[in-house]
Amino acid sequence: MRIFLMGGTGLVGSRLMPRLLERNDEVILQTRRPDAARQKWGEACRVVEGDPMQPGAWMDAVADCDAVVNLVGEGVFNRRWRAGFKQLLRDSRIRSTEHVVQALAKAPRTAAGATKVLVNASAIGYYGAHGDEELTEASGPGDDFLAQLCVDWEGAACAAESDGVRVAVVRVGVVLDREGGALKQMMTPFKLLVGGPVGSGRQYVSWIHHADLVGLLLLALDDGRAAGPLNGTAPNPVTSKQLARALGRAMGRPSFMPAPKFMLRLVLGQVAGLVTAGQRVLPRQAQELGYSYRFPEIEGALKDLLGS
Ligand SMILES: NC(=O)c1ccc[n+]([C@@H]2O[C@H](COP(=O)([O-])OP(=O)(O)OC[C@H]3O[C@@H](n4cnc5c(N)ncnc54)[C@H](OP(=O)(O)O)[C@@H]3O)[C@@H](O)[C@H]2O)c1
Repeated sequence: MRIFLMGGTGLVGSRLMPRLLERNDEVILQTRRPDAARQKWGEACRVVEGDPMQPGAWMDAVADCDAVVNLVGEGVFNRRWRAGFKQLLRDSRIRSTEHVVQALAKAPRTAAGATKVLVNASAIGYYGAHGDEELTEASGPGDDFLAQLCVDWEGAACAAESDGVRVAVVRVGVVLDREGGALKQMMTPFKLLVGGPVGSGRQYVSWIHHADLVGLLLLALDDGRAAGPLNGTAPNPVTSKQLARALGRAMGRPSFMPAPKFMLRLVLGQVAGLVTAGQRVLPRQAQELGYSYRFPEIEGALKDLLGS
């Protein structure tokens, strides 16, 4: 398969890329940082330079591809959420999606006449905060900033359906990866012996091991039944307290020091709500499609990630 990959230099994209190459997919990587991409992937893929927030020549490369995977998005924890940054969080996701959908509209079928597929990232932020209520793909959206962003992001992706493209949106959960993201942040207090749950510790964390997220992205690419939303989470979400306990055990450090809500608000500002509010998201679609998780339980996932 020839795949147009956007966001392939990021945390998830860097895990997806070797799996695509392993199975002999041809990858065309769109990036704003061609030198960094070439340094990372050498000649293994074709690099197309371009800013996905702007329309441009990069969009021409979409015509030759069988599928698009779009993982672009400014990191939600990169800065405090002031108005300008919130706009960037939206624009980096929604505009880049609109542009790739425009590119797909010009050539919605493969050279062989088959349906093209767009696998687009979204986030479990779609659901908003829900305490310990179980959420599946059938649950409705929340009404906060991030939920509205996800609704508009998914809407931009699903616009490609009117051109006959199969669209799967993967609502990504908290990705556990030793190389970065949430796990790296969570590990710091544990290393300093002050690790513990966040806030009350009762809120759910819907996590996923990076290998399973890649597995789900490949499922979304390959399986013609995958269309619409697909929760990118493990089947067993845990409370913040359970996560802290499992992380403490995996690191051989104590895990009883809670991080109070007010302190997180001071340090993180508005984005603190993301770690203090619970979401118990279940991957019903992945299970209906028969996906078999490598790491369904948090203990096994952390053992794999943190084992020497
Ligand atoms: N990691 C998680 O826990 C998590 C959770 C929920 C949802 N997600 C979503 O899943 C997707 C992949 O996540 P990730 O952690 O791999 O993301 P990431 O590493 O933060 O970034 C992915 C890519 O997005 C591009 N990008 C970043 N900021 C941009 C900007 N301002 N304008 C244009 N392009 C920009 C970059 O590509 P270049 O620099 O190569 O141009 C980057 O490599 C994202 O859409 C993210 O929102 C991730």
